[in-house]
Amino acid sequence: MSDAASLIQELQRLEAEAIETLAHAADTAAVEAVRIDFLGRKDGRVSRVLRGMGRLDPADRPEVGAAANRVKAALETALTARLAELAAGEAGPGVDLTLPGRSSWEGGRHPVTRVMDEMWNVFRDMGFSRARGPEAETDWYNFEALNTPLDHPAADEQDTLYLEHSHLLRSHTSPVQIRTLEQYAPPIRILAPGWVYRRDTYDATHTPAFLQVEGLVVDEGVSFVDFKATLAEFARRMWGEGTQIRFRPSFFPFTEPSAEVDVKRVIELPDGSSRETDWLEIMGAGMVDPAVLDAAGVDSERYTGFAFGMGPARIAMLKYGVTDLRTFFESDMRFLEQFVPEAAR
Ligand code: DAH
Repeated sequence: MSDAASLIQELQRLEAEAIETLAHAADTAAVEAVRIDFLGRKDGRVSRVLRGMGRLDPADRPEVGAAANRVKAALETALTARLAELAAGEAGPGVDLTLPGRSSWEGGRHPVTRVMDEMWNVFRDMGFSRARGPEAETDWYNFEALNTPLDHPAADEQDTLYLEHSHLLRSHTSPVQIRTLEQYAPPIRILAPGWVYRRDTYDATHTPAFLQVEGLVVDEGVSFVDFKATLAEFARRMWGEGTQIRFRPSFFPFTEPSAEVDVKRVIELPDGSSRETDWLEIMGAGMVDPAVLDAAGVDSERYTGFAFGMGPARIAMLKYGVTDLRTFFESDMRFLEQFVPEAAR
């Protein structure tokens, strides 16, 4: 065998031996000892073999040099891998320290929840309490006690989801008015947020389940002036001092007179100027019909009141410029992430 061939063979034998030794190296100090023994600059075993190159025909030297470089690189890789294995072992079984780190999501309130919380903060400061009622209701609470006969279109099976035993999924939060009036004596000032259900097709402006926020005020001497002033104050606290409010005549069976309430807001623009929005509808409202008080066993000669119902998802759409209601329900992180962090609104 030529000198060159025997040197290359010797290098390969060293590589095999080093890898075998490494497999048994029990800690980082043992790994370091293998490195020095085989790859040490002056006295390492690979270096010692290479000293034999001096005897070689110059033409044979490049081949041996290339083989030596390959062996050194293989040993470096094996040393690093063994160190990683040992580190993983220290971290505990099954822990792979070479995996990329896991990032965590920063949580935030859902945009509709945020609007409902803002509404609640305003009414709480005005002395309102929270009220709630069941989502599975009866005809009586959902319609009849609210002065809505069962042959009214709203009570039709086309619109309302009926359950067994003459129950239904409430189609609005107004039945909470009746339940509250039955349970508590006036003065009453409540806000009742909750889910309601209708047989609507799922599209950009309808979802079969949605949230409403109901309000009710009943006391002696509550007048139309109190009604308008309370809602105007709500609008200013919710959307800012410059907010205007307007009442358009409307009809609801449970209020008389009834109104649809619109707001016109002032928006500050990035360049420091401001502009007014269009009139935007924010709620249905009205003075409580005496028939509703009577149905709930409240003396309608003595007490009067007003009521209102809002759709917070609609208001969130206006506030955040969302054009498709369905995006609120689909838990798509690309959509929801836009509302995190909360400070960025
Ligand atoms: N319940 C009505 C609806 O779902 C909204 C509503 C209108 C509630 C007028 C009220 C009210 O309390 O006074 O469309």
